[in-house]
Amino acid sequence: MIYTAMSQMIGNTPILEIKLNGTEWSLLLKIEKFNPGMSMKDRMARQMIFDSLASGKLTRDGVIVESSSGNTATGIAYIASELGIRFIAVVDHHAAKDKIDTIRAYGGEIHMIQGDYSDDEVATVERESTAAALAKKIPGAIFFDQSNNFSNPKGYSTSLAHEILNDLGTDINELVACVGTGGSITGCGRELKKEIPDLKIIGVEPKGSTVFGFPGGPYFQSGTGVPPGDKIGVIYDPALIDEGIIVDDRKAFTTCIYLAREHGLLVGGSAGGAIYEAVKRCTQNPGSGKTLCLVCDGGEKYLSTVFNDEWINEKNLFCEETFSLLQKTLCKPYSASTVKINDFNQELKACT
Ligand SMILES: Cc1ncc(COP(=O)(O)O)c(C=O)c1O
Repeated sequence: MIYTAMSQMIGNTPILEIKLNGTEWSLLLKIEKFNPGMSMKDRMARQMIFDSLASGKLTRDGVIVESSSGNTATGIAYIASELGIRFIAVVDHHAAKDKIDTIRAYGGEIHMIQGDYSDDEVATVERESTAAALAKKIPGAIFFDQSNNFSNPKGYSTSLAHEILNDLGTDINELVACVGTGGSITGCGRELKKEIPDLKIIGVEPKGSTVFGFPGGPYFQSGTGVPPGDKIGVIYDPALIDEGIIVDDRKAFTTCIYLAREHGLLVGGSAGGAIYEAVKRCTQNPGSGKTLCLVCDGGEKYLSTVFNDEWINEKNLFCEETFSLLQKTLCKPYSASTVKINDFNQELKACT
């Protein structure tokens, strides 16, 4: 296949199966870092841009303004560069430095929210109000407002869900995915459920995020969750979610480190949380089945945090017990290990 634009390469990402010891459940990972912007958010970025051009709300000489933790803005930045459209990304200190540098590299402008925030605090509320105000001030500008923009879930229902159905058919029992804006889980989940009515949809948010009613607080997982003080937008459909789970930073980041060291797979911090939960379910579900986990982005975006030993140790974000449990539970790619799995409940106790 020969393409004429980078944005045409969005999608058709691979699925990696990881075998588990002592269970007939299959763990399937949809590896979204193989999109050109190295995250699943390319899908919704393209949809938001094309839909707003089609409706006339955005013109080629207009300006896009968006609040982002970095992945949405990366997707918008390279597609805007293809189209020659000016783009301003409103970000905060919680966004990974590599993401901000990438947006700049594509010619995107960075508007950084200033304020007295701790490392693990997210300034989503300020980001969104600033982006809305900026767009009002600049002639021809549009604020995409991804949390309330129906092109966000549409970006997944029109591409991601159909790829999954093409690759796996209807033989999937569970979908595990992070929830930030809720666009990916809603768009993909709703479309999959049309073909697989019994599909269980499991939402994962960081411990400290408030979507599923758990107590709010700071967290380091980037791009996901809804911090205290903010609220999830109208595009998220809670009726689709069968279970909402929280995973803390230690388990999420230790899963990332484990997958990098033992499976040659670099995943982002939020994906680490979703994969941790997917593994847990595979080991606890009775009988046999398939759990598909959406792996939102790649660890290449978090080399100075999740994959920096100094940063991890300073913040005490590595959990030895989680690492060794994963070692015992997941089969290495080229081995036929028969070690019996531990009970995740034991590990949960050891880790908290
Ligand atoms: C790394 C990462 N994880 C999870 C999410 C949450 O995805 P969604 O907004 O579709 O709920 C995002 C969204 O930006 C993200 O960038």
